[in-house]
Amino acid sequence: MKVAIVGATGAVGREMVAVLEEREFPVTELLLFASERSEGERISFRGKSVSVRRLEKPSQLAGVPLALFSAGAETSRELSPALVAQGTSVVDNSSAFRMVPEIPLVVPEVNPHHLPDRGPCLIANPNCATIILLVAVRPLLELAPLERIVVTTFQSVSGTGREAMDELATQVAQILNGEADNIVPRVYAPHQIAFNCLPRIDAFLPDGSTKEEEKMVRESRKMLEMPDLSVSATCVRVPVMVGHSESVNLAFSAPVSPEAVRETLSGAPGVLVWDDPAHDLYPVPRSVAGRDEVLVGRIRQDPSVPHGINLWLCGDNLRKGAATNAVQIAEILLEKGALR
Ligand code: A2P
Repeated sequence: MKVAIVGATGAVGREMVAVLEEREFPVTELLLFASERSEGERISFRGKSVSVRRLEKPSQLAGVPLALFSAGAETSRELSPALVAQGTSVVDNSSAFRMVPEIPLVVPEVNPHHLPDRGPCLIANPNCATIILLVAVRPLLELAPLERIVVTTFQSVSGTGREAMDELATQVAQILNGEADNIVPRVYAPHQIAFNCLPRIDAFLPDGSTKEEEKMVRESRKMLEMPDLSVSATCVRVPVMVGHSESVNLAFSAPVSPEAVRETLSGAPGVLVWDDPAHDLYPVPRSVAGRDEVLVGRIRQDPSVPHGINLWLCGDNLRKGAATNAVQIAEILLEKGALR
């Protein structure tokens, strides 16, 4: 089938092209769109170079059954509803529609049953840090009722996009070349991201939390169908190119042992347990970049609360946190016959 990617030149968009190819999604023609800045740029798909076009109006996608969007919330808001109305199903990686009650927000390992049987439809792809968290947390709900999640994230700059990756590389080079005085922070202004940690992702809210933290709370509750679940999130940007890490504290209402967590996660879809401290085996972002699994380690009891478990996890934010999750959603829709 014809497939369109909107935002094809971005950090996530390029990964979407690669994931469609790797997973052998049945693409007959790939249409790549971006802003006017990238018109004419070429991106390789199955050994052929595909020209990037400027997306101006929905009619450019007439007859295309599937569009993957990663071009920011504004572009999604502007174009997706009209596309669905003309018959194109949209999997949208932006935050535009995630909390609209009637729009499914889906991680295939968590809530595939929220996907509709018929299209055209609009499906929201969740926030990258939330996807990675829930792939590991969802299987543990079988062990005991979950009361609270406390999560601190260590998020890579690729989550912000290509410009942010360039900014980190440039600042590192400037510092190592003895030109630290020339640094002019832009994407993360007023702060330097190189050799630093920034406890702010997205805008601040009146209560002192950030929008990213709010996304983790609200999206987790929606996908787990646990509207009253206590979730406390602190999101931190770190000078890593690809791969988000998370320190996770879970409080259950009945005893859960680290062994049971290890065993459950060892058999869970999309999860790999890397937990052998004696041999220095635990997830790090360098190990997870380019992979689709969420890696989990440092699994241990938290004796400071009743029935507490601590763990550490890493996931590739561009792949499972974005592109792979979107393509997996498309695969399910295809299997259900919802794309036509
Ligand atoms: P462009 O590269 O032409 O600016 P990232 O998140 O890595 O910054 O990428 C954002 C993606 O969204 C890029 O592919 C960018 O294209 C694309 N984009 C931004 N604005 C628009 C728009 N109005 N219409 C289509 N694509 C857009």
